[in-house]
Amino acid sequence: MSTKTALGDLQVSPIGYGCMALSHVYGGGLTEAEARAALHEAIDAGITFLDTADVYGEPRPGSTGPAGTNEEMLAPLLAERRGDVQLATKFGIAGDTVARSGDDGAPRVAASGVNGRPEYVRTANEASLRRLGVETIDLWYLHRPDPAVPIEETVGAMAELVAQGRVRHLGLSEVTAEELRRAHAVHPITAVQSEWSLWSRDVEAHVLPACAELGIGFVPYSPLGRGFLTGTLTREDVAGDFRGGTARMGESWDANQAALSLVSEIAEAVGASNSQVSLAWLFAKGREFGVPTVPIPGSRRAARMIENLASTRVELTHEQVARLDAVAGLVRGTWNIHENPAWISSGRE
Ligand SMILES: NC(=O)c1ccc[n+]([C@@H]2O[C@H](COP(=O)([O-])OP(=O)(O)OC[C@H]3O[C@@H](n4cnc5c(N)ncnc54)[C@H](OP(=O)(O)O)[C@@H]3O)[C@@H](O)[C@H]2O)c1
Repeated sequence: MSTKTALGDLQVSPIGYGCMALSHVYGGGLTEAEARAALHEAIDAGITFLDTADVYGEPRPGSTGPAGTNEEMLAPLLAERRGDVQLATKFGIAGDTVARSGDDGAPRVAASGVNGRPEYVRTANEASLRRLGVETIDLWYLHRPDPAVPIEETVGAMAELVAQGRVRHLGLSEVTAEELRRAHAVHPITAVQSEWSLWSRDVEAHVLPACAELGIGFVPYSPLGRGFLTGTLTREDVAGDFRGGTARMGESWDANQAALSLVSEIAEAVGASNSQVSLAWLFAKGREFGVPTVPIPGSRRAARMIENLASTRVELTHEQVARLDAVAGLVRGTWNIHENPAWISSGRE
């Protein structure tokens, strides 16, 4: 149904499926069979770019290191449909899962132990290929640069795996413009994946201009503000997971309703959903920057992903884009969900 977008010479669907949300992060996850059923439906509808990571999924009791269970969930689907999809995964967060409840039951973000050492690059790749049951990954991202390892070394090791056919294209997540330039000098980088949405716009300062200059695509993660921008969440919905503990969806929930109202107002004027308008704004901004832009929203419901795909047909006027540009200025609270400012690229820029 839908046309493809080119990230370098990798052709992907205009939006991807963020598979993290299928597992466990926001509210309850799905069973593996339910998750695959949602994915089959979305693939049939034209969402063929699948985004996972070795760290996604509920860790098995007593396990250490990347949980790997989201990748494992995908394996039976890939056994049937490898040729129908573009498969992206990530490595480098070696120590813990991205977000889960602490031992005391309190929601927290637990992401530690970034590892970009060349020997770990090879081990992580081997493990992802095994869990996914595939011979090659179409787009393989470094999830976070390792502050203890020059990015040239990590990307050099990743490039060896391209040469061996285990990976087709390289990507980087939450890199600064400077890290991106250094990495790209070692091996062409196909895409940067970092947070970008109506309410999280730090990447516009340095990273997007660098992508435009170097001819690198951009894959906005959490393009719906982890669900907030959709206008479908209640305070109770987020109280049970880590979002309720963040500044934006915790203490500033009420203050941020003004930002949400502006999104809803434009959505009503356009005759589209908040989600569709949020994604259409990203496409419009991607064109402004001259950067191929492929957002990867996540949902447990295929119908919502199909609604999200229809955002490619939503046309915003210049005035509507300009009004939406004002959303970020209304937002209260930091956008970094992690206690460490350096966890996201703007914290190092
Ligand atoms: N590289 C990184 O460091 C990084 C970090 C975070 C995320 N990611 C990737 O980006 C993907 C997406 O980010 P995200 O899951 O954090 O946030 P998101 O896509 O901004 O929001 C996800 C939430 O929005 C809801 N939703 C989706 N479509 C909807 C619709 N049409 N109407 C109403 N609600 C809708 C989903 O709820 P329901 O499930 O209830 O529909 C889900 O809870 C992840 O799955 C992951 O692959 C990468």
